[in-house]
Amino acid sequence: MSTTEKATYRPRHILITGASGGLGQALALRYAAQGVFLSLWGRDAARLEALAAACTAKGAECVVIRQDIRELEASREKILELDAARPLTMAILNSGVSSGLLPQKKPDLGGLEPVADACRVMEVNALGAINLMATLLEPMTARQAGHIVLIASLAALYPLPGSPGYSASKAALSFFARATRMALFDAGVRISIVYPGYIETPMSRRLKGPQPLRMTADAAAEHIASRLLAGKDTIIFPRMLALGTRLLHLLPEPLAAFFLRYFAFTVEPDRESPAYKGHSDAAPSKR
Ligand SMILES: NC(=O)c1ccc[n+]([C@@H]2O[C@H](COP(=O)([O-])OP(=O)(O)OC[C@H]3O[C@@H](n4cnc5c(N)ncnc54)[C@H](OP(=O)(O)O)[C@@H]3O)[C@@H](O)[C@H]2O)c1
Repeated sequence: MSTTEKATYRPRHILITGASGGLGQALALRYAAQGVFLSLWGRDAARLEALAAACTAKGAECVVIRQDIRELEASREKILELDAARPLTMAILNSGVSSGLLPQKKPDLGGLEPVADACRVMEVNALGAINLMATLLEPMTARQAGHIVLIASLAALYPLPGSPGYSASKAALSFFARATRMALFDAGVRISIVYPGYIETPMSRRLKGPQPLRMTADAAAEHIASRLLAGKDTIIFPRMLALGTRLLHLLPEPLAAFFLRYFAFTVEPDRESPAYKGHSDAAPSKR
């Protein structure tokens, strides 16, 4: 990206999936401004409408899309409709769910990740996001314009023992996006992949264990937006955790596993987990 392009880089129609969640909301508010049209995608109508009102107050025009991204065909139709009505200049594919080893509050629940949760996480984080990205690439490559931003995780770069399904889902998303980016290097479409560390949101509140260098959602959104503006397409933060991830790759796996024990965590089930009832003492998500 040239200096002039950087200075003038202002996406006009921005889609944000997972806009009803912590990071999605912060990104929407970060980009809300006069001249910007925001398509806010999620499932929770009340949170999406409240966000739309806040973004409208900042001068943006907004539309709310309620759609479960696991419904692949309906999601494809929705994203193509949005793009046909007003070509997307940027799509931030941010929807995500997490699961992991259950806290061992009840011995019969054990410490494993519930299989249904691991599969659901793959459906949302990997299949759902890949479906939207691949669908949108068709009109974007045809017009040789557009920018897709995928929100992955540091867990995509080194698997976290506390979250096997989540690590696998983000690695799948990251590999799909990287392979596509290499294939489309001269197609005129920009693909950026973001690998955040811990961010203070409803998702991370269910994570029980150390969360080193956790940042607020606003700070994470600002960091992502400023790195994108600077033309960066691989965004890994915070820096110290990015470095730690690199170092882990230099170690034999048993030694890496030994160090990772100091950062071990478990994950309270969310409301959609079959284990939720068994963990009804789990802290409910605060929004
Ligand atoms: N928080 C962290 O520490 C952290 C770290 C690294 C990466 N990330 C990634 O950042 C992204 C945002 O996470 P967050 O922390 O902001 O979590 P969050 O507050 O739990 O928000 C998750 C968002 O995803 C949406 N979503 C979940 N399942 C969906 C489905 N089936 N269909 C459509 N939308 C769905 C939710 O919408 P509804 O509630 O309306 O269904 C919500 O808007 C995720 O991809 C996450 O993996 C988070």
